[in-house]
Amino acid sequence: MTDAPLPYPPLELANRVGSLAEAADPMETYDELGRLAYAEIVARLPSGWTFPGKRILDFGCGGGRTLRHFAKEAAEAEVWGCDIDEPSIAWLGEHLCPPFHVFLNGPEPPLDQPSASFDLIWGISVFTHLATTWSAWLVELHRLLRPDGLLYLTFMGRGTSEWIAGEAWDESRVGMNVLRFGQSWDMGGPMVMHSPWWIQEHWGRAFDIVAISPDGFGKDPAFSHGFVLMRKKDQAIDAEMLERLAVEDPREARALAHNVSQLQTETEALRGDRDYLSSMLAESRVQTQNAEAQLADLSSKLSVLEHSKSWNLTRPLRSAAHRIRVVKRGAERSNS
Ligand SMILES: C[S@@+](CC[C@H](N)C(=O)[O-])C[C@H]1O[C@@H](n2cnc3c(N)ncnc32)[C@H](O)[C@@H]1O
Repeated sequence: MTDAPLPYPPLELANRVGSLAEAADPMETYDELGRLAYAEIVARLPSGWTFPGKRILDFGCGGGRTLRHFAKEAAEAEVWGCDIDEPSIAWLGEHLCPPFHVFLNGPEPPLDQPSASFDLIWGISVFTHLATTWSAWLVELHRLLRPDGLLYLTFMGRGTSEWIAGEAWDESRVGMNVLRFGQSWDMGGPMVMHSPWWIQEHWGRAFDIVAISPDGFGKDPAFSHGFVLMRKKDQAIDAEMLERLAVEDPREARALAHNVSQLQTETEALRGDRDYLSSMLAESRVQTQNAEAQLADLSSKLSVLEHSKSWNLTRPLRSAAHRIRVVKRGAERSNS
């Protein structure tokens, strides 16, 4: 491998994993965010953990914003990336492989990789958007990890509450709360908020929590994500087991009730938007119909006029008047 700088993806792909619209230098910001993610991941690895000979996966790598910073490690380890976005994976395959390996995956498991084959998997801003498939994906990542394998995930919690949920952070009413359900990836996808206690309770059934923080991941403290480093528990798990409510913890019910009220607020706003757009549409339909009726009326008047006797009788007069106007204009031009 040479030390030549790695190429950057087209702005469209870079922008897809986080808006760069406000950035003075979009590619510098893209690079900085990836560098920060790299530094965060590496800083959390247990002391003595080294890369040589390891297999590593960036789950949901997008166009390689984080992955690209592991080029040095990729000379000694097998570093993989996967994503559901075909253009991102195609670009990575063409421009950053080698040193990396990438593959496209579907929106639901499995990944086409052998069980117990990865030492470290990370997912940066991925479980922050998995509203319905999170448990199946955790089971899949658990399958892919070697015994004692590490999983590093970021989540949205305290640092993103004002920004995403428009409310002050209160962890007693947030477990796994889903907002903007069904939002397309072009618009950022669904938004999932987590509290550390909920992660500990549910994700902790499949993994030992090595470290967890409600915020601190990312550039801007106003938008900072939480992160969790987990170690695979050597036991059989399934999605149902991860989802089961901890009924003895009153925060579960409180968080669910709060999520219902958040979704009601969203639904109300969406209905308001829909009703407004419907009324605008109805109004523009009426205007179109009126314009069409006026046009039809004028056309029929014109047609009557063109077939009338007086119109035909006066045709020579109109033609003479036209010729006089032409002669006059010619004379005026030659006098001037
Ligand atoms: C906010 S972006 C972050 C990208 C990348 N991790 C980074 O830090 O630059 C989230 C990424 O997760 C990907 N993604 C969403 N659901 C996925 C899934 N089920 N499997 C793999 N990738 C997924 C999206 O396509 C998108 O590229």
